[in-house]
Amino acid sequence: MCNMIVAIDQYGRIGRDDKLLWHCPEDLKHFKDLTTGKIIIIGKRTLEGIGRMLPKREHIVVGRDFHSSELIKELQKSDKFTAIHISGLDEFLVDIAEDVDSAWVVGGAGVYAYFMPYVRRLVISHIELYDEHNPPQFGDVYFPYIDLRDASTVNVLDVKEINDRNSGVKTLRIVEYLFE
Ligand SMILES: NC(=O)c1ccc[n+]([C@@H]2O[C@H](COP(=O)([O-])OP(=O)(O)OC[C@H]3O[C@@H](n4cnc5c(N)ncnc54)[C@H](OP(=O)(O)O)[C@@H]3O)[C@@H](O)[C@H]2O)c1
Repeated sequence: MCNMIVAIDQYGRIGRDDKLLWHCPEDLKHFKDLTTGKIIIIGKRTLEGIGRMLPKREHIVVGRDFHSSELIKELQKSDKFTAIHISGLDEFLVDIAEDVDSAWVVGGAGVYAYFMPYVRRLVISHIELYDEHNPPQFGDVYFPYIDLRDASTVNVLDVKEINDRNSGVKTLRIVEYLFE
């Protein structure tokens, strides 16, 4: 089992060109609050899009080929950084089962898809965007399918009216879904 955190817009998009489609400091703060001091399980492409490690978090980076990435070669010098081949993830899942709350799966789509069958706690930031910034066809990475009606518990953690046309974000609604 695992915990997962994601921000999704009204079209199911989570990113484009290895980046997010929006800039929402309120949501970044929420992400930081939940993941600081924890292990984060992150896809190679997402890490490359960020371009650095996130402070005060242990990183498990998932990929198939790490040799072609100069960034990953550099980060492997850190004791807070481990690169895991996707074929080793089953074993890793057994390890984190001992203490599920010590780790968060933080994406991207490839990593979410792998861990989806094992999700126990899913925290979604539902981001409503202004269409003029990000028209519906603009985006190339989507959150994998999950039927949220299967959640046994749904807790609304926060609702914020952002109304910021510069960042493109209209509203932010953070919801926790428990699958138990
Ligand atoms: N909105 C959010 O909350 C959020 C969160 C995270 C990321 N994102 C966005 O998501 C996008 C990146 O997602 P992504 O799916 O392209 O990349 P990703 O999941 O970050 O990384 C994909 C890479 O990881 C490896 N990988 C991991 N799991 C895999 C699997 N199940 N099947 C195949 N390969 C797997 C592959 O490495 P190899 O290339 O070595 O084979 C693949 O290239 C970016 O736009 C990022 O900004 C959004």
